[in-house]
Amino acid sequence: MHIAVITPGGDAPGMNAAIRSVVRIGSSYGFETTGIQLGYAGLLKEDFIYLDRRSVGGIIQWGGTILKSSRCEEIRTKTGIEKAAKILLKHNIDYLVIIGGDGTFKAGQKISKTSGIPVIAIPATIDNDIFGTDETIGFDTAIDTAIDAIDKIRDTAASFERIFLVEVMGREHGFLAINIALASGAEFVLIPEMKYNINTISEKIIKMKENGKKSIIIIFAEGAGNATEAAKKIEAITSFPARVSNLGYIQRGGSPSARSRILGTQFGNYAIDLIRKKKKNRAVVMQNCRITDIDLKLVTSNEKKIDLSQLDIIGKVAI
Ligand code: F6P
Repeated sequence: MHIAVITPGGDAPGMNAAIRSVVRIGSSYGFETTGIQLGYAGLLKEDFIYLDRRSVGGIIQWGGTILKSSRCEEIRTKTGIEKAAKILLKHNIDYLVIIGGDGTFKAGQKISKTSGIPVIAIPATIDNDIFGTDETIGFDTAIDTAIDAIDKIRDTAASFERIFLVEVMGREHGFLAINIALASGAEFVLIPEMKYNINTISEKIIKMKENGKKSIIIIFAEGAGNATEAAKKIEAITSFPARVSNLGYIQRGGSPSARSRILGTQFGNYAIDLIRKKKKNRAVVMQNCRITDIDLKLVTSNEKKIDLSQLDIIGKVAI
C-alpha cells in the first residue's frame, strides 16, 4: 500500500501530529508514505518526499506543517485537477490522505473522481468550520493563543479604561470568535452569522461603564465587517476611547496544545484504519467525543451551523 499525504491551505497546529501518526501507524502495517510538499501547488510540481518513521521524529511539538503549504489557484481548474490526477497515478499512489479545510477537501474529492484514487480527509483548520465534526485540529491551540494575547490586551485596556475591538480569524464564520470570547471573558462578540447593531452595543457599553466596568473587550470576527469603522462609531457614541487590535497570523502558529496533538494523533490513526478497511472518500470526524467517519461528500456539500445560544452566555456573564 502506497499512500500520499498532503496539507494544503491554512496550516493548523497539530497537523504535524497527524502526519506523524499517519506515517508511523501506516508503517506498522507495511504502508509506504510519500509526503507531498507545499500543498496542491507542490503536487502539481511533483514536489514529493519519502517519509519514514524517523523522518517524522521530534515534530509533534511543532506548529505549522513539516510538509509546508500554499494557496493554489491552478487546482481550482479542470486542467489542474487532471494534472494532479495524472501525477498521482504516475507515482502509483493507492490512497491520498488530505489534511486541511473545506477547500482542501473539495479539491481532493475532484482529484479522486478523476483519478479513481480514494481519499481520506482529516479536518485541520483553526476556523473549526467543517461540517460533520465537532472539532478540527488546531482550533484548540488557536483559542489558547488568542486568549494569551487578549489577557495582555485586557491589562492595558483596564489601565486606560479603553474599549478594545480584537479582530480574530475565522473566515466567514464565528466559531473561533465565539470560543475566544467565552474563554477570554469578552463583553461582546461580533460574528458574520449574526446581525449586530452598533448603537445597541454602545448603549450597553455606557451602562456597563456606569456600573463600574473598567475595560471592554469586543471580539470581532474577521468576517463580521470592518473593525476600524465599528471602533470609530462606538467611540463617537460612547465618548470612551476605542482601539482595534488585530491578532492576525499569530493565531495560526505556535506549539500545538495537548488537545490539538491528541486530536491529530487520533485522527491520523483512524485514517489508517479506514485505509486498512479499504474505505473510500471518507472524512474522519469527531462527534459527541467519539471519533468516527462520514461520507466526504456530506462534508463538502453542507455548511456547519453555529450554536448561537453561546452568545446568550457571553451576554449574561458580561454584566
Ligand atoms: O482558514 C484559516 C485562515 O487562517 C482563516 O482564518 C483566514 O481567513 C485565512 O486562513 C487566511 O488565509 P491566508 O493564509 O491565505 O492569508
